[in-house]
Amino acid sequence: MLVLGIESSCDETGVALYDTERGLLAHQLHTQMAMHAEYGGVVPELASRDHIRRLVPLTQGCLEEAGAGYTDIDAVAFTQGPGLGGALLAGSSYANALAFALGKPVIPVHHLEGHLLSPLLADEKPEFPFVALLVSGGHSQFMAVRGVGDYTLLGESVDDAAGEAFDKTAKLLGLPYPGGAKLSQLAKLGSPDAFSFPRPMLHSDDLQMSFSGLKTAVLTAVQKVRAENDGEIPEQTRNDICRAFQDAVVDVLVAKAHKALLDTGFRTLVVAGGVGANWKLRETLGRLKIQPPYAKGRAKPPAEAVKVYFPPMEYCTDNGAMIAFAGAMRLQQAQPSGGFNVKPRWPLTDIVKQPSQ
Ligand code: KG4
Ligand code: ZN
Repeated sequence: MLVLGIESSCDETGVALYDTERGLLAHQLHTQMAMHAEYGGVVPELASRDHIRRLVPLTQGCLEEAGAGYTDIDAVAFTQGPGLGGALLAGSSYANALAFALGKPVIPVHHLEGHLLSPLLADEKPEFPFVALLVSGGHSQFMAVRGVGDYTLLGESVDDAAGEAFDKTAKLLGLPYPGGAKLSQLAKLGSPDAFSFPRPMLHSDDLQMSFSGLKTAVLTAVQKVRAENDGEIPEQTRNDICRAFQDAVVDVLVAKAHKALLDTGFRTLVVAGGVGANWKLRETLGRLKIQPPYAKGRAKPPAEAVKVYFPPMEYCTDNGAMIAFAGAMRLQQAQPSGGFNVKPRWPLTDIVKQPSQ
């Protein structure tokens, strides 16, 4: 079965072809980053119009890359939500029109399910069950994943998502949009000891997270630095702040990942979403071992190994491949097709079980 996947929830148009027998055959992406950069953020109307312009050429590019034609497509999957209403509608209209013309089913996909399953696109795939850490611009969540469609929410950010905190902090450091990736690059040049920021909810005995206070701590530090330097942030100081901010976020994510693995008893961790591209997070989780708890005075039990999977870099941020793949998985489960409407605020709870279930 050949599934065409369409992603248009925000500022990236992604199109891909996934074959259930042969795997990913082609994927193409157009990022609108440069277009939105001059406004300092995504302009929804411009995003929608650009998606409309890109969808046909990207689909043709994918078909050429895969050596396939329109009539070879067995189903069209598209991101139904969550995301920007107009941007989603561009993808939905295109997917539905194409599927209707071809007489093939259309499969609505939850954007986060796409991210959640994206590590399965790698050559070395994780096996179920696993803990998924979903860290994107809009979400920071831990999920127990027992199979396709079998997700339990374990905990999430109570305020800003990790990616959002990266972007907002980057903005207050004067970095151009989109700042998260840039901040992480500069962090490489910063000293880990120059600043120290709080690790919010690090010791809360659950898997909830909070990142907005951390951003405020950075703001306070930046105001102090500016006051001492004629309104400027010296280059090295900015790099140091980037480093300290990144280290604080990574510490929280790693500690919570450790707890999620302990709580579930799973020994596989999968990281998905844009923040999964972060070098420090990759480095630290790559060394993660599980230390079982032990009573004071007792011998320390040996640490247990964990398998940690990251999606290939190109599938970490928004892309069509993860939508084509999630659609193909849903198709194999014979999910009924249909759905022209979009769901800009589609809660993930619609597709996950609550811990008590
Ligand atoms: O998953 P994604 O492409 O889009 C959604 O939000 O769905 O994630 C984008 C987020 C942005 O907030 C961006 O700042 C963050 O991922 N991001 C990073 C890095 N690259 C992208 N955050 C930290 N370090 C990075 N290297
Ligand atoms: Zn995303």
